[in-house]
Amino acid sequence: MAQIFVDTAKIEEIREAASWGILDGVTTNPSLMFRAGTANRKEQTLKIVEIVRGSVSAEVISTDAAGMIKEAREILSWSEYVYVKIPIIPEGLKAMNVISRWPNGRINATLVFSANQAFLAAKAGASYASIFVGRLDDAGLDGIEVVRETRAVFDNYALDCQVLAASIRNTYHVTQSLLAGADILTMPYAVLQKMISSPFTDAGLKKFLEDWEKVAGK
Ligand code: G3P
Repeated sequence: MAQIFVDTAKIEEIREAASWGILDGVTTNPSLMFRAGTANRKEQTLKIVEIVRGSVSAEVISTDAAGMIKEAREILSWSEYVYVKIPIIPEGLKAMNVISRWPNGRINATLVFSANQAFLAAKAGASYASIFVGRLDDAGLDGIEVVRETRAVFDNYALDCQVLAASIRNTYHVTQSLLAGADILTMPYAVLQKMISSPFTDAGLKKFLEDWEKVAGK
């Protein structure tokens, strides 16, 4: 079963999504912390963990391996639900190789834009490879194709890394990511709302209730 994460650090959005009973986790990044108006990464992450009781990703700020490893040690100590997000750059790979050997070394490799980068992340021991579908499309490339390619590569070699479709911008990305075999989809709360909404459902429900009122109100 594919997992659904929301890509936000806003507590109200996470609380609402969790109340639907279909939320498996949350991804955050420095931009999302900024949008939630907080620089207290630990406090915000722990508030999110309390609500979702599932995978919650928090990102490092350092760009050198030693700094990333130091941050990861702290971030991963906050909760057994927390994954540390590490960018797929050479220093990130070095850090992933160290962190993935820890008993609690849960890694979300981020800023992945190709199946090659995803493959390297898997080799370095990442649990998730976060493919930025929307940003690939913005650049005139095919984000969904990268999800499909990564799925095939991971399956070819039975790699123990999950394909995470990130930077999802619309419901088309959701359906196509599911068809391409993504293990996890992380999406803004607004896209999750659009997944469930249909004017046909609303019109159908209205008609059912009107007809019921006609017969029951007699
Ligand atoms: O989790 C990070 C990723 O989903 C970013 O999305 O919309 O900023 O490209 P976006």
